[in-house]
Amino acid sequence: MINKTRLEGKVALITGGASGIGEQAARLFLENGAHVVIADVQDDLGQQVVASCMDSKICYRHCDVSDEKQVEETVSFTVAKYGSLDVLFSNAGIMGPMTSLLDMDLDAFDNTMAINVRGVAATIKHAARSMVAGKIRGSIICTASVAASIGGAGPHAYTISKHAMVGLMKTACNELGAHGIRVNCVSPFGVATPLSCTAYNLEASQVEENCCATGNLKGIVLKARHVAEAALFLASDESAYVSGQNLGVDGGFTVVNHSYSAN
Ligand SMILES: NC(=O)c1ccc[n+]([C@@H]2O[C@H](COP(=O)([O-])OP(=O)(O)OC[C@H]3O[C@@H](n4cnc5c(N)ncnc54)[C@H](O)[C@@H]3O)[C@@H](O)[C@H]2O)c1
Repeated sequence: MINKTRLEGKVALITGGASGIGEQAARLFLENGAHVVIADVQDDLGQQVVASCMDSKICYRHCDVSDEKQVEETVSFTVAKYGSLDVLFSNAGIMGPMTSLLDMDLDAFDNTMAINVRGVAATIKHAARSMVAGKIRGSIICTASVAASIGGAGPHAYTISKHAMVGLMKTACNELGAHGIRVNCVSPFGVATPLSCTAYNLEASQVEENCCATGNLKGIVLKARHVAEAALFLASDESAYVSGQNLGVDGGFTVVNHSYSAN
């Protein structure tokens, strides 16, 4: 029988929870007993996710992660609403424009960094402050990407931002370990979500087809729910001694050399 109480008694804050991977994590964490705050900039979508759950243990809060004040207020809101903050899933992100390095728009570069790096740093800072003050042995999970370990798997600024995120996770793991707080990343291969469909200007089915063709693990389509399952493991006490890890949810894509493909 599947244990559906893996986050019983825990409070989770999920950024980018109105859509895609974050939405699936919000639903899965709720199913597993957590109280959940979805933080996003897509207010209508976030409210719709909450309404569809029909449960007072989940709510929505507007939060642009690139604005530190909003992040700080969202953490305070979470603690005031549900009593503590045990799990941060810092998942909000953008891909940014697909341009050649030769034509790189540095304003767009700054925007990607502001959300994918500064935003994640702000969420870690304020969530950790709350956990330390409350003596909570919390879990922090960030959504990185296969683009966090190899080049060519996304736009330049995106790749740089995801590499930086893994560095941030490691340095946070170092300092926060003294407080019993764990910090990890999940790093998915391509998933059909608004982020990937918009970036590649493709329908969800075409994104999945392309990912199946280029992916290493055959016979399975990577879904947002699979990434949410990995985040659930890292959020739960089942990973009680796991910290400082970048958990690939990529079917081995980043550890094989595709030019030596067996097929
Ligand atoms: N889809 C993929 O193929 C893929 C692969 C690897 C990693 N990722 C990462 O997964 C994470 C989630 O993306 P997704 O694929 O679910 O896409 P998505 O577009 O479905 O979800 C991203 C969410 O982040 C929110 N967001 C964007 N900017 C924000 C901001 N400034 N403040 C608060 N929220 C903001 C969006 O409104 C959206 O709801 C991202 O960090 C992305 O880089 C995605």
